Amino acid sequence: MIPDSRHLLHIRGLSVETLQTYLSLSQKIKQDPSKYTQVLKGKSVLQFFIENSTRTRMSFDTAIRKLGGGIISFSPGISSLNKGETIIDTIQTIKQYGMDMVAIRHSSSGAPALVASVLDVPVVNAGDGQHEHPTQALLDCFTLLEHWKINPTQANPFKDKTIVIVGDIFHSRVARSNIHAMTTLGARVVLCAPQTFLPSDLSLFPKVDVEYKLDRILPHADAVMCLRIQFERQNDRQIPSKQEYRHFWGMTAERKHALKSGAVVMHPGPVNRGLEIDPEIADSSQSLILKQVENGVWTRMAVLATLGSEGALS
Ligand code: CP
Repeated sequence: MIPDSRHLLHIRGLSVETLQTYLSLSQKIKQDPSKYTQVLKGKSVLQFFIENSTRTRMSFDTAIRKLGGGIISFSPGISSLNKGETIIDTIQTIKQYGMDMVAIRHSSSGAPALVASVLDVPVVNAGDGQHEHPTQALLDCFTLLEHWKINPTQANPFKDKTIVIVGDIFHSRVARSNIHAMTTLGARVVLCAPQTFLPSDLSLFPKVDVEYKLDRILPHADAVMCLRIQFERQNDRQIPSKQEYRHFWGMTAERKHALKSGAVVMHPGPVNRGLEIDPEIADSSQSLILKQVENGVWTRMAVLATLGSEGALS
């Protein structure tokens, strides 16, 4: 897969240098956001969210405002999509009002690439179906690098780090983007889940390890990323019961003691509290969950600034 550098549609295929450029710019922006307040001056970004979102949508809003850009909001619930208008006709229509970039979230994998194929402006994938969520992976990697005080531009930034991704990997675009990003940056990534929550074709992720028992891998993890169980995407029962899932794969309060000293816990949100992670861990000093939320603004600013300035800002 050859990435099209005009857009950010996926992490898969991006070079380590491209990831480092985004992460390094995120760091610079966080250190002094006042230097970047005019980057999108006179430009407008369409927030084309056709699927629910709190964090991604609001952090894109904040990022656009901080870069001095204008926001074009789209409300799918009161739009003519509900009358059967296609996504292509819809985006071509909105384009006539003037827009310089698009952030798109859609429940169908590939929708951002489809939109990008008919537009001459940069498109950012804000999460598509079970495919990818590239800006989530950037903010997750940024958060870990910041916490571990690692320079994003050093060789193999995640060298010697073991990152365990636990839960509903099958449905998770967050997991897919993070697997590509974290392994490219040098981490050992271990997927941990019941068999039914793992993708059937693991050869798509040749660099990962798999461990079915959380208790066996937990003491080796430098970071544990819990994933939301996506009940809305399940066609049949993939776990026998929530209680059993929590017992074997939940970051329960009891498992806090199994973590090695200094290990951190993450979750992209929204969280099913008491299922994937207990409040005793989610709200503890080992949790980076709210830091992930905050850092979403800086990393999305970096993406919008890079694409909006055709790379001139790296
Ligand atoms: N992590 C994430 O994408 O959250 P939202 O669905 O709230 O945007």
